[in-house]
Amino acid sequence: MTDLAIIGGTGLNKLEGINIIKRRVVRTPFGEPSGPLTYGEYNGREIVFLPRHGTGHTIPPHKINYRANIWTLKDIGIKQVISIAAVGGINPHLPPARLAVPDQIIDYTWGRENTFYEGGAGKVIHIDFSYPYNENLRQRIITAAKSAGIGIFEGGTYGATQGPRLETAAEIDRMETDGCDMVGMTGMPEAALAREMELAYATCAVVANHAAGRGNSKEEISMKNIELYLHQGMQQVRTILIKILSD
Ligand code: HPA
Repeated sequence: MTDLAIIGGTGLNKLEGINIIKRRVVRTPFGEPSGPLTYGEYNGREIVFLPRHGTGHTIPPHKINYRANIWTLKDIGIKQVISIAAVGGINPHLPPARLAVPDQIIDYTWGRENTFYEGGAGKVIHIDFSYPYNENLRQRIITAAKSAGIGIFEGGTYGATQGPRLETAAEIDRMETDGCDMVGMTGMPEAALAREMELAYATCAVVANHAAGRGNSKEEISMKNIELYLHQGMQQVRTILIKILSD
């Protein structure tokens, strides 16, 4: 039985190169996860894959049932979750198609179901979230990238925005002043829910575009370019995942 799950983001709805063993439709007390759990195998190691936006990429960031996704992974015995996430690059060292393993988060989202601890009959619980990502898992991603010869930005602050629209240039300026290196729409509450469930969680981010008002996004953000860069970045993510499974 595996203890490793991958939550795939935009550009990674399935895992090529990994043999599919079975698919399971599941339900949780919080409703349905984004899609069926896909059990795969590579080199004798089992892995579970869950596409964050649904199999056909139909669920926008603010409608994802983050609680059901994390709950179901915990429920089947997962201990470690690698999240793959497309981001916009704010830091000039994060141009399109570059990979990053963030070590901090600033949460700008609102109105999302962001805890399993709703009070009521249960206790009031405040998890420690000083360091939102699991350091061992971050290092595993970094080591795998390095040994595959893939350049990766080792750290950075992930700013989680509400979406589904992209940001204004002024919002990105403010996020940079706040200390954000990259911007995405799905990092929260996913990371916090994983911590509540005591899952080791880390993100491998793929820069899909310069954030609004930066680089070649100065005039506008081109969807065509996003697809192109994501495709390039996700090829590298696949190589890293296969490397992790081979170790
Ligand atoms: N902003 C927010 N989320 C994103 C972006 C962006 O520029 N690119 C990919 N996901």
